[in-house]
Amino acid sequence: MRLAAVLLFLATAFATCQADGYIEQVTQDIHLLRPRMGAAGYLLQGVNCLSWRLAVETNNIRNWKLVPENCEQYVGHYMLGKQYRKDCEIVANTAIEYAKNLTLSGDGKDIWIFDIDETTLSNLPYYARSDVLFGALPYNNTKFDEWVAEGRAPPVPGSVRLYRTLVSLGIKIVFLSGTAERFREIRTSNLKEAGYYIWEKLILK
Ligand SMILES: *[C@@H]1O[C@H](CO)[C@@H](O)[C@H](O)[C@H]1NC(C)=O
Ligand SMILES: *[C@@H]1O[C@H](CO)[C@@H](O)[C@H](O)[C@H]1NC(C)=O
Repeated sequence: MRLAAVLLFLATAFATCQADGYIEQVTQDIHLLRPRMGAAGYLLQGVNCLSWRLAVETNNIRNWKLVPENCEQYVGHYMLGKQYRKDCEIVANTAIEYAKNLTLSGDGKDIWIFDIDETTLSNLPYYARSDVLFGALPYNNTKFDEWVAEGRAPPVPGSVRLYRTLVSLGIKIVFLSGTAERFREIRTSNLKEAGYYIWEKLILK
């Protein structure tokens, strides 16, 4: 009985603190630089992650090391959902239009340089792993290298289409990547498997 009374007291005290904290928070929140409310005062989930993403993409947040823990699901849903694919397709379409507009010299010196990771090959299967959590866990170089060594990266959506257009226009392809030289063989077969069948040069570190 006495224990129950103590627990009740603690629960009440906790609830009171919570309520105080809540009131304090509300008064601080009237200046909505980072809007946390949706229409009609409904709390909108994920808006803070959207603010974080916007700040990262506009390079206002720099040198960040980890995806905020509460944004892991937000990043995951974006990367695995339709939006990421659509965003990639737009980039590919724009690049294709740009390439078709170019006045080519036709002397064999027209070159298009591709990065590899997240440009031609996607590491999404790696980032989606439970021991990586889309970058919400600290980056582990050994682990990433082990993934590269598997040589199973799929193509980035839209990139093979861009690549094929470039090849058909007579533009030569160069891959330039921070991948270590020791992965040359596996990267070569990975690129071929993903649909990039020919290139002028593969420059590794
Ligand atoms: C391609 O050229 C057309 C016609 O000159 C122009 O309207 C368009 O903006 C150009 N596109 C790109 C991506 O440069
Ligand atoms: C990094 O990954 C490797 C290989 O999976 C593992 O053996 C090692 O413990 C990890 N290091 C850290 C700091 O988590």
